[in-house]
Amino acid sequence: MSSWNGNHQRIYMNEVGPRDGLQAEAAFVPTAEKISLVNALSRTGLNKIEVTAFVSAQAIPALRDAEIVMREIERAPGVKYAALVPNARGAERAIDGHADELNLVMSASESHNLSNLRMTREQSYRSLQQVSRLADAVKIPVNISLSCAFGCPMEGDVSEETVLEWSSRFIEETGAHGVTLCDTTGMAYPGQVARLTELFARRWPGIELTLHFHNTRGMGLANVLAAIDSGASRFDASVGGIGGCPYAPGASGNVCSEEIVHALELMGYDTGVNLEALTLASTRLPSLLGHDIPSQIVKAGRRLDLHPAPPDLPAIRERAVNRERLPETRR
Ligand code: COA
Ligand code: ZN
Repeated sequence: MSSWNGNHQRIYMNEVGPRDGLQAEAAFVPTAEKISLVNALSRTGLNKIEVTAFVSAQAIPALRDAEIVMREIERAPGVKYAALVPNARGAERAIDGHADELNLVMSASESHNLSNLRMTREQSYRSLQQVSRLADAVKIPVNISLSCAFGCPMEGDVSEETVLEWSSRFIEETGAHGVTLCDTTGMAYPGQVARLTELFARRWPGIELTLHFHNTRGMGLANVLAAIDSGASRFDASVGGIGGCPYAPGASGNVCSEEIVHALELMGYDTGVNLEALTLASTRLPSLLGHDIPSQIVKAGRRLDLHPAPPDLPAIRERAVNRERLPETRR
């Protein structure tokens, strides 16, 4: 099990709230609010922020303002600003917007790839090879996010061989510098996560591996800890715990950034994140989105955010102590 304290291992937190979080919101979040959210997140010490997605506006109307958001955010030094890209058109838009990294997306499951991207996996792969060539030409690094890597809500289990095979094509043929294994609908469990992380890390020690969990079945933090124990140090998470793919039946929020940072910092890991600033960014979400958010840190506070004792505590104590002095029969 992970060391419970005194472990200063660096953990890299990638914020996906502005993309994975906002993509499924029914009400359009005004562009200025998106920019202001990204700007607030930029000041929290996160490693990377996935700002938006350059996808079809018909597919994801919530992010139809991707160009403006990408252009108008204030970039903080040391933070990488990534964008999700499904095809060459998306790559051109993201490159024009000066994204620091293109996060390519396809699914390890054929059914989810068809419903989310309207292509077979082979068609997606060919399209993403083209994306990768565009990115290479302007020296922008490419990461591939493989959705449904721990199970598909329509097909069930997705085999390790399938996940490793697609990873290998992107790493060895296409030159991706990083791979994100995504648990799109919270089907991953710790033993499975440990195994796949170990297999991956052993086979490609030089490749950046990121884990992307959704907390749909309450296993998010357990999966993060299992992945760390198996050699992972990079995690996607979403401020407030918002998120979910609109084309994956039953999807719900990502693991919550402030919950993960809170837990990992208590365990002695170094996330580089200022939890107070991150939580502050999260507290504005319910009014922005018009609904409650999953974050337990926003609801309950941090572990040592204490509450005032009742004002009559001394009187209660006195009564309790006096009661002890009375003979047994009169208590
Ligand atoms: N950015 C903006 N517009 C795009 C685009 C992109 N990257 N790719 C395609 N389009 C436009 C086309 O120009 C076309 O517009 P028109 O109808 O005005 O002519 C329309 O979208 C449909 O294009 P087509 O090539 O036929 O795509 P499609 O309908 O087969 O959809 C995708 C394919 C990949 C573009 C679409 O399914 C998509 O964007 N999916 C993303 C889903 C997503 O983000 N899911 C959550 C994250 S995992
Ligand atoms: Zn996701």
